[in-house]
Amino acid sequence: MIEIKDNILTQEISELIGKYGNGREALLPILQQIQAKHGYVSEFAQQEIANALDIHPVEVYGVITFYSFLGNKKKGRHIIRLCRTISCDLAGKDAIIRTLERELGIKFGETTKDEKFSLEFINCMGMCDQGPAMMINEQVFTQLTPHKIVDILKNFR
Ligand code: FES
Repeated sequence: MIEIKDNILTQEISELIGKYGNGREALLPILQQIQAKHGYVSEFAQQEIANALDIHPVEVYGVITFYSFLGNKKKGRHIIRLCRTISCDLAGKDAIIRTLERELGIKFGETTKDEKFSLEFINCMGMCDQGPAMMINEQVFTQLTPHKIVDILKNFR
């Protein structure tokens, strides 16, 4: 059964096709617009975009998984991105992983049931001399310790 929400998505996608055309080059801008509006690109949206552009859904999925700013799952209001690159790793990122997972009750790659937090990894963001480092939304946090994590999270709950 098609939900009302899906009907709206179909309409939005056809409007985007009107704007960007139905060539392959329209794929990325359309995905960006859907991501910006809904926070993710659902399986239904992927299928609709593939139909509209006459390409295989696997191609749409491939682009979503390639770009870190695109996602196929609904994410939390606060996205926590912990650096997993070597300097942050050596500076003790594993203890930070354990603390974040324990405090939020989810694993990396997951979103809390109340849709408040998502946990993700990112690669080096240039704060290597101040690791471990992470971002919450657009805000950067450095020299993290398990204790500091508990305090930081309090401000976002
Ligand atoms: S290695 Fe983590 S910010 Fe560079």
